[in-house]
Amino acid sequence: MPAADMGPQAPEHVAIIMDGNGRWATARGRPRLFGHQAGARRVSEIVAACPELGVRYLTIFAFSTENWKRTQAEVSGLMTLFRRYIIKEAQRLLANGVRVRFIGDRDRLDPKLVRMMDDLEELTRVNDLVHLTIAINYGGRDEVTRATRRLAREVAAGRIDAESVDAETLSRFLDTHTLPDPDLVIRTSGEARISNFLLWQSAYSEYEFVDTLWPDFTAEDFARVLAGFGKRERRFGAVLA
Ligand code: FPP
Repeated sequence: MPAADMGPQAPEHVAIIMDGNGRWATARGRPRLFGHQAGARRVSEIVAACPELGVRYLTIFAFSTENWKRTQAEVSGLMTLFRRYIIKEAQRLLANGVRVRFIGDRDRLDPKLVRMMDDLEELTRVNDLVHLTIAINYGGRDEVTRATRRLAREVAAGRIDAESVDAETLSRFLDTHTLPDPDLVIRTSGEARISNFLLWQSAYSEYEFVDTLWPDFTAEDFARVLAGFGKRERRFGAVLA
């Protein structure tokens, strides 16, 4: 669906909780990693669909601060998948006008992966058509905690007056400080939970929970959800005339 058909209400920033990879693989009698691999292919498809759909910012939840509790095999399989994704997609992302950013705490990640993330951010820094943000070792509470710690240091050092601290001040310390808040958060696989994703930023976001498992979520499904968003009335707490 061309952006023009979305009307003025096309969401500028869409965030996605890509859930259901494990169930998708299990239903096929395959290991969970098989589902994550299929999920990674969908990431490429959904990113490629963004310009035509009028989505300028796409933020995806790839690995949460809680996902370390999974088996060592699944965790290391996912980390390998992230490295492969970067290697395989870097040039295509660059050529297609996609600027990539990563959010989350990098301290616990393998330094080699962190270097690759830094390099991809640097490589695609020139782009402005689509802003893809990939959340790895990300948790909303962890992000707000880290931001508060940094802000507290600034206050303690006398560089920020405690009385001047407001929501905008804290926002500047978040991993997402360069991004607008998401207009729409989509979660696949039939679960209706936020799971610690963009807690602060999604205060006024619309939510859409779809039953489709992430590896089955096509660009057409994406376009359908966005079209539904265009019909919603957003009030941001106010009463519209
Ligand atoms: C949740 O499904 C999915 C994840 C924890 C991993 C998300 C990763 C990908 C979609 C693939 C790689 C991403 C990139 C950026 C290359 P689940 O495993 O919890 O599924 P389940 O609820 O059915 O078990």
